[in-house]
Amino acid sequence: STLDMEVEQIKKGNYDHFMQKEIYEQPESLRTTLRGRLIPGDESKVKGVLLGGLKAHLRTIRRSRRILFIGCGTSFHAALATRPLVEELSEVPVTMEIASDFLDRRAPIYREDTAVFVSQSGETADTLQALEYAKSHGALCVGITNTVGSAISRGTDCGVHINAGCEIGVASTKAYTSQIAVMTMLALAIGEDAISTRARREAIIDGLLDLPGVVKEVLKLDEKMKELAATLMEEQSLLLFGRGYNYATALEGALKVKELALMHSEGILAGEMKHGPLALVDETLPIIVIATRDSTCSKQQSVIQQLQARKGRLIVMCAKGDAAIMCPNGASYVIEVPHIQDCLQPIINIIPLQLLAYHLTVLRGFNVDQPRNLAKSVTTE
Ligand code: AGP
Repeated sequence: STLDMEVEQIKKGNYDHFMQKEIYEQPESLRTTLRGRLIPGDESKVKGVLLGGLKAHLRTIRRSRRILFIGCGTSFHAALATRPLVEELSEVPVTMEIASDFLDRRAPIYREDTAVFVSQSGETADTLQALEYAKSHGALCVGITNTVGSAISRGTDCGVHINAGCEIGVASTKAYTSQIAVMTMLALAIGEDAISTRARREAIIDGLLDLPGVVKEVLKLDEKMKELAATLMEEQSLLLFGRGYNYATALEGALKVKELALMHSEGILAGEMKHGPLALVDETLPIIVIATRDSTCSKQQSVIQQLQARKGRLIVMCAKGDAAIMCPNGASYVIEVPHIQDCLQPIINIIPLQLLAYHLTVLRGFNVDQPRNLAKSVTTE
């Protein structure tokens, strides 16, 4: 009805679509996610994190033999982005499980395991069934959801709400960045008792405190992403190469492009390039290479060189001021993003890709908030 349409418009405010509003909300949604959970530290208190819902279980988590991250779609990607840090700070092996595959395999899981279920809605059927399965095998079950009172938040032993606020667009944006922020804090909490990583943990907390401001800065790339979208709108396909913390960025960027712009897109682990994907490279296929600063960036530099040697059509994402070092032979397009701590960089890097997917969708004339054939929460198998 017209009334429904007017109510919608009011909720969208000055934005054309909920997704656009939710992308722009990220400095604020992240601030809410972090609120009350970071201890900046002073003479009386050490710098740290405070996750009330987990406190009583941290010892058990630290002692577990394995940590499993379980989810679907974007929530799986958020977990993947934080896996390296959780492994680094906990020294517990972390395995990744797509909920449906975990169930298909009836994968072994034990009492000594901690299973972390990540879900924006807290109602996704596959994730919920994986939770029931893990519970019946005696694993400690932790929930990371955006929905208080959801099935997953009720069914887990403990957990953290991401507090990103209601997400209406079917494509997840602000929930993704808040999930990464929460799981970063989870890593900090698990690793809290180790003296050897104290400086590292403090630097990450400083990074989290800066995060909303840096997100605000990266949003300024909107016009540039619209410009880039205009050059890509007629393409059949778009590849994204990432590694390390930003393998998840490549997968998540590709998911946004395919579900919204209805364009084939694939996120590829750059370390796998020579094992197949390199054959696809020619002068026409657009390839986004994520090469921001971290311990893997010299490897990404050589990936760029090899793609250039094959005359690949490169779009390089690098830290501000790094374009000349990362791609000395130039690129068809450069996306320069603000630099932040390596483990937080995925939160920054996904934002230009969310904007790119958004503009591609608008330019190609597809439905932004309700992509063809998809539902916001998938409550059936
Ligand atoms: C995200 O853009 C997708 N619409 C989808 O992959 C989603 O993340 C997935 O269905 C998981 O949903 P959940 O986080 O509510 O469990």
